[in-house]
Amino acid sequence: MSTSITTVGVLAEKLLDQLVEKGFFSRNFYNEDDYELFRSQLVKTNFHVPQTSITRVVSRLLFGLGINHLPKNMVGAGIYTGHALSWLSAFSFFDREKSSIYGLDISSDAIDYASNNFKRLGMTNVHCIKENALDWINKFEQPIDLLFIDIDTNEKGKAEYTDLLEIAYPRLSEGALVVAHDINENKFSKDLQPYIQLTSDKTRFSHNINLDVDAYGLGIAKKKFIRRFEV
Ligand SMILES: C[S@@+](CC[C@H](N)C(=O)[O-])C[C@H]1O[C@@H](n2cnc3c(N)ncnc32)[C@H](O)[C@@H]1O
Repeated sequence: MSTSITTVGVLAEKLLDQLVEKGFFSRNFYNEDDYELFRSQLVKTNFHVPQTSITRVVSRLLFGLGINHLPKNMVGAGIYTGHALSWLSAFSFFDREKSSIYGLDISSDAIDYASNNFKRLGMTNVHCIKENALDWINKFEQPIDLLFIDIDTNEKGKAEYTDLLEIAYPRLSEGALVVAHDINENKFSKDLQPYIQLTSDKTRFSHNINLDVDAYGLGIAKKKFIRRFEV
């Protein structure tokens, strides 16, 4: 039972409960005290976040998605200095041998900051790599249990979310979560229309929800399990 109660914490917990009811995961382990404990580690180690659009509610949701799904392999595409990835990775803070986390960004400055951030946290299971996420995922040979997407550039905006997901799809494990930031941001609505269409395809994703919790939004889709019949 959580001892510290914040309105935003209650909201995040309720939203995660609803994801359980909808079948995204079987139980909700979200606890505001655990969230605060991890936040104090970020503060203590001076986790560097020059700017961010990850709001208080979304940081909690990302934290909850990680602890509820417990991915063995997680990939973050477009991590900047690792802010969103840190919340998703928090589940592995005390038990880092059980998971491998890969954070990708095309900016070498961003990757330098992100690597140092996770090094100061002692999270040796988080590997920050300077590479184009589309190319890197295309070469990755292990099943991905959670894919976080937040890539954007001045030229392409968020238009590459769909290409990235198409490349990643065969590499996602059955039941994998795909989490997309900025899914409801007005300025990207045209870029993200094909992505929303793709994740709404029930032949490929059993579950899909776009959480309209702030000005940016968080999309969560779950890859469909393949039904196998015995002969
Ligand atoms: C909105 S920022 C990400 C913010 C980050 N998720 C956070 O929590 O602070 C978008 C990032 O995507 C990166 N990016 C853009 N295209 C990319 C690609 N194809 N592969 C990897 N990173 C990419 C940019 O360099 C930039 O750092």
